[in-house]
Amino acid sequence: MSAGSDTAENLFLLAEKAALQNRPGDAVRYSLGAMRAAPGSIVYKRAFIRFAAAAPLLEYDPDLAEALRICLETSGVDCAAADVLWGRLLLFHPAFGPLYRRVLKKRLFFGWKNPFEGVSDLTPLLDPFFVLGAQTIVVRYLPFEKFMTLLRAFLLDHPALAALTEAMARYCYNTDYIFDVKPAEGKKVAALRARIENGETADERSLVLLACYIPLFHLKNAKTLRERWGQGALAGLIQQQIGEGEALQLQAQSLEALTDSDDDVSLKVREMYEESPYPRWRELTETDIVHWPEDGKCLNRKGARALIAGCGTGRESAQLAAAWPEAEILAIDMTRASLAYAIAKAAEYHLENVRYKQADILKLDTVLKPDFDYVHCVGVLHHMQDPVRGWEVLAGLVKPGGTMFIGLYGEIPRRSIVAARNFIAQGKYPATAEGMRAFRRDAPKLLTPAHYATLLKALDYYHLNMYRDLLFHVHECRFTLPQIVEALKKLGLVFGGFKLPEAVLAEYRGKFPEDAEALDLDNWQRFEQEFPDTFIHSYKFWCHKNI
Ligand SMILES: C[S@@+](CC[C@H](N)C(=O)[O-])C[C@H]1O[C@@H](n2cnc3c(N)ncnc32)[C@H](O)[C@@H]1O
Repeated sequence: MSAGSDTAENLFLLAEKAALQNRPGDAVRYSLGAMRAAPGSIVYKRAFIRFAAAAPLLEYDPDLAEALRICLETSGVDCAAADVLWGRLLLFHPAFGPLYRRVLKKRLFFGWKNPFEGVSDLTPLLDPFFVLGAQTIVVRYLPFEKFMTLLRAFLLDHPALAALTEAMARYCYNTDYIFDVKPAEGKKVAALRARIENGETADERSLVLLACYIPLFHLKNAKTLRERWGQGALAGLIQQQIGEGEALQLQAQSLEALTDSDDDVSLKVREMYEESPYPRWRELTETDIVHWPEDGKCLNRKGARALIAGCGTGRESAQLAAAWPEAEILAIDMTRASLAYAIAKAAEYHLENVRYKQADILKLDTVLKPDFDYVHCVGVLHHMQDPVRGWEVLAGLVKPGGTMFIGLYGEIPRRSIVAARNFIAQGKYPATAEGMRAFRRDAPKLLTPAHYATLLKALDYYHLNMYRDLLFHVHECRFTLPQIVEALKKLGLVFGGFKLPEAVLAEYRGKFPEDAEALDLDNWQRFEQEFPDTFIHSYKFWCHKNI
């Protein structure tokens, strides 16, 4: 080992220790040191992003900006998690910050005019730190989103800023096009789309501009555009916006189905996810591959069998497959679009121990044997007409002595979302892109500040497909802890503990020292009444089937 890598390793360990001791500022400093001591290593760059994601920042820090820029330029380092750091570095940046504040302030006083119109010096927008970051990072902060929305509208009228427009196209694609569109802007975009689809306009700039508003895959001449622009300067953008969509469509067509679906709710839910697959995820980062001891007891041995029911776009199945390479994983979902995405991701990460099939949970007992060591089902059962029936089918597939990991929406954890859904249920806001954007605009007037603040904290709030899942779902029900107790009893399952941060478990043990294993659900009810935000949106827990 070289002196540099020795130092890097030591600094990395110090960073880990600082993070564990809740000293995020020190953790990021040490990881920056590790990155510098071993500049050729991708591991320390990834670690820097991980620690930087939690770093507090109160002023511009050129060292952190430089480190983040290097990470942004290194392929294989996913910087999406560093959105807070990137956003803050921009706001405190000596050139970008004043421009940002001026634009947002002018918008307040001269709302009818795009505030970028009066800006004489646009050079901060061309800074590689901004352009590079915008290609991969989405900042979860509404004023920043407003700034980007205004900038996009400005670019529509000033297509000369080509590099910036391409970065904007990627930013918008990564949000599933959640930004507001003013009526006049919408008309210009519709006209641009018509010209490109008719073949009247066929220049690079117009195409990139349109890609800021619509994924190019949706255009009727997408294939021709890919053939024309798939090589050269636009190759990356065309691959992302057309190539990936085409490949997923092909994959979806060739999927094997284990069962059909004939339940009314299943069919409605499937239709929604075919349009809006969930969740959007790009990289499997090292922080994703967590070895939970409860999972390990079942999965850490050759040939252990796991079923991931309702795997969506495959993030959890990929995490489990990477964490437990000896296990054989079968992941099923009803939605072809989601499964296609999951298969592409598993191939990207060379995960050979996971297979994907289309199936409805309600019919799995007709095609699978009850020989699974582990069944994982998170974010799915509450979208069924009778969630306990779905849970029962899955419980029937677990071997005696096996484990389930279940995630269910909670009545208390989702109270802010329920408040929003009650307005949506009145019918004024359809689940279309426009309807969802309209609700996003009106939400601050409709909701209490506390409910609105809770919504703003959700990652899903900043991506249109995930926003649909969060608030506009076609069918959801929610559980209380007593209902979970009742269901466990009915299904003959034994509660095995909640998946919660260590700090929350420690707080619980402090209050209920007699329940060191934190398994008493009556106590948990009392705890939740005192701390209603204990479970964010849902209850996630392990449960076991007796031998
Ligand atoms: C919110 S997503 C959750 C995806 C994944 N479990 C996660 O949390 O990342 C819900 C998924 O459940 C699937 N689903 C819902 N009902 C289902 C059923 N009856 N059978 C199979 N899949 C179902 C949907 O197609 C969708 O992909």
